[in-house]
Amino acid sequence: MLSPRKKEKSGAVSTMNIIEAEAEAARLRKDLRRHDILYHQKDAPEISDAEYDALKQRLEAIETRFPLLATSDSPTKTVGAKPLKEFAKVRHAMPMLSLSNSFSEEDVADFVDRVRKFLNLPEAAKLEIVAEPKIDGLSCSLRYEQGKLAQAATRGDGEEGEDVTQNVRTIKSVPQQLPKGVPEVLEVRGEVYMTRADFQKLNKAQEALGDKVFANPRNGAAGSLRQLDASITARRPLRFFGYALGEVSEPVAETQEGIRRKLAQWGFEVPEPEKVAGSAAELLKFHEKVYEERPEIAYDLDGIVYKVNSLDYQRRLGFVSRSPRWATAHKFPAEQAETIINKIIIQVGRTGTLTPVAELEPISVGGVVVSRATLHNEDEINRKGAYEGARIIIQRAGDVIPQVVRVVNPNPKKLFKFPDKCPECGSKAVREQDEAATRCTGGLICPAQAVERLKHFASRTAFDIEGLGDKIIQEFWDEKIIQTPGDIFRLEKHAEALKEREGWGELSVKKLLDSVEKRRTIGLDRFTYALGIRQVGQATARKIALHYESLDKLLHEMKEAKDRESGAYHALLSIEDIGPSVAEDIVSFFAEKHNQEVIHDLRQELTIRDFERPKAVNSPVAGKTVVFTGKLSKMGREEAKAQAEMLGAKVAGSVSKNTDYLVAGEDAGSKLKKAVELGVKTLTEDEWLELIKT
Ligand code: IVH
Repeated sequence: MLSPRKKEKSGAVSTMNIIEAEAEAARLRKDLRRHDILYHQKDAPEISDAEYDALKQRLEAIETRFPLLATSDSPTKTVGAKPLKEFAKVRHAMPMLSLSNSFSEEDVADFVDRVRKFLNLPEAAKLEIVAEPKIDGLSCSLRYEQGKLAQAATRGDGEEGEDVTQNVRTIKSVPQQLPKGVPEVLEVRGEVYMTRADFQKLNKAQEALGDKVFANPRNGAAGSLRQLDASITARRPLRFFGYALGEVSEPVAETQEGIRRKLAQWGFEVPEPEKVAGSAAELLKFHEKVYEERPEIAYDLDGIVYKVNSLDYQRRLGFVSRSPRWATAHKFPAEQAETIINKIIIQVGRTGTLTPVAELEPISVGGVVVSRATLHNEDEINRKGAYEGARIIIQRAGDVIPQVVRVVNPNPKKLFKFPDKCPECGSKAVREQDEAATRCTGGLICPAQAVERLKHFASRTAFDIEGLGDKIIQEFWDEKIIQTPGDIFRLEKHAEALKEREGWGELSVKKLLDSVEKRRTIGLDRFTYALGIRQVGQATARKIALHYESLDKLLHEMKEAKDRESGAYHALLSIEDIGPSVAEDIVSFFAEKHNQEVIHDLRQELTIRDFERPKAVNSPVAGKTVVFTGKLSKMGREEAKAQAEMLGAKVAGSVSKNTDYLVAGEDAGSKLKKAVELGVKTLTEDEWLELIKT
């Protein structure tokens, strides 16, 4: 293969013209990369070290003579040290959270009302809210120790991110050293982003080199930051905005505005413009103004973030699931485009729901090429009048899956007919009364449901098994390597066969098995969520774990709860957010024989940790069950509940003999009466506050 090129290869670099040089450089790079892989990854070099060095020197000579031909990812820059295989993981000192979204004026008014209510603010009391642009990039936490940039990490799953310190050091707008007097430990959180103009320039250059082009500036920024070779990041036009703090060894401000001021003093760019508003109306006005100015702003914004200004209020408001109660992201209206529905397919989800999906003539919406849109369910198809061949308007808001807004050329005769059979297993598909979803009745014989359950089980928010993504699960399912969740933990049996798979090798198999091993111990909350019980998301799973604490207890109680008259069933219903419909799904999940087998099987493979109560286990109310009733005067009901949970108490919605305390505010009614009847200890709001003070 090399023979016709040999002559060119020995031609002197000094006599080459740029066209010859370019072709030769490309060939050398390709060869060097192949030899790198043979040497580093396959342990099977085909040439001697000296021959390798000769190739590399020749490429260096070309790049020196023709600097225009140098590329950032050339082997002349990347080799030397063995290339990194992956980023080291970093545990965040404080979790990196996400924001709840607001889409309408009503959502914003609700947000402000919710905050006021939670804090129990009288009508006349003022509440300041800071508004600033939401930057569409990727979030990063920068840790400064003694004023020096010590570590930078991506958000990852919020708890654990990737160590991108070397990459972030190459970003010009990130100060390496902060002025004297900053706290010893200081984490600055913000967004790494790229301007639209820089993004376009980058894509042009990528295209010219035959390299990957990015779909939008956000992808460009992410792809540039997450480079194992930081010298590539260095050549990419990345920037950074600071907008929040993580861990700090001493407080630096009393308000969000104060934080912004400090960040700016320390040399960070902060998102502009900013507005301190006193009402929802003012926030909305600002939102509208920035939306209109958007074309003149050099980078992509996807909305406005509203944050309660007082940090003391922020602390009181705390968090719900993974987002702060004191902030929300008010998204900009979605971008729209017109295209055609080529075909409507039916997907079967993990709980058997049949979801119609429109396959579209690919179209770019807000910088992203879209080729599918969900049609949700049968009613939605009828409402929109969707059919194959229809011209439609679609829209996309941020990361949300694109939606069909309307059909441009309705034609009732062609309306899509929703199937009455599951396309995957042929079982009857039925729609319960009052339900929007049509479900496959095949249950466990339906392969689609089984596979979707496995995908959910291994996914990032559940077991988080790296390397076991949707595609691999599907393949392993088809090849009968994984049929049930427990099989994931028996993959080692297949190690030899896996090494033979196309594109796999010793290393990738080891990596997969290592990531499986890492998950052999798991908390009860994640475990419960991973089971994929209908209507049980992360927040509900967490509440279940908080209530039952151990898997033994949970299983035992679920057995009892099959009797809907039992105390166990009522205890389940007393858990916040669990109403009769969710309770039914939970109880029937655990009553199903196959599910019991899956759990039994998993227990042979796993250690399922009891739920660890968040801090403050020493508080006088830790482990106690509390019910709040009536109107509280010192704080809102939600705040009272959140505070009790922080102190390790369980908050229930109704009084039973298991209740330890009933806290009765003004005008307490039936719950107070019931508590007195059952002999449950009742407290006034002040008595409660006195109790938790100690
Ligand atoms: S404040 C507790 N401010 O949006 C969370 N976030 O959708 C504090 N983002 O993960 C975040 N611009 O990456 C905040 N001005 C801004 C922001 C911003 C962009 C990102 C951030 C966050 C995501 C949530």
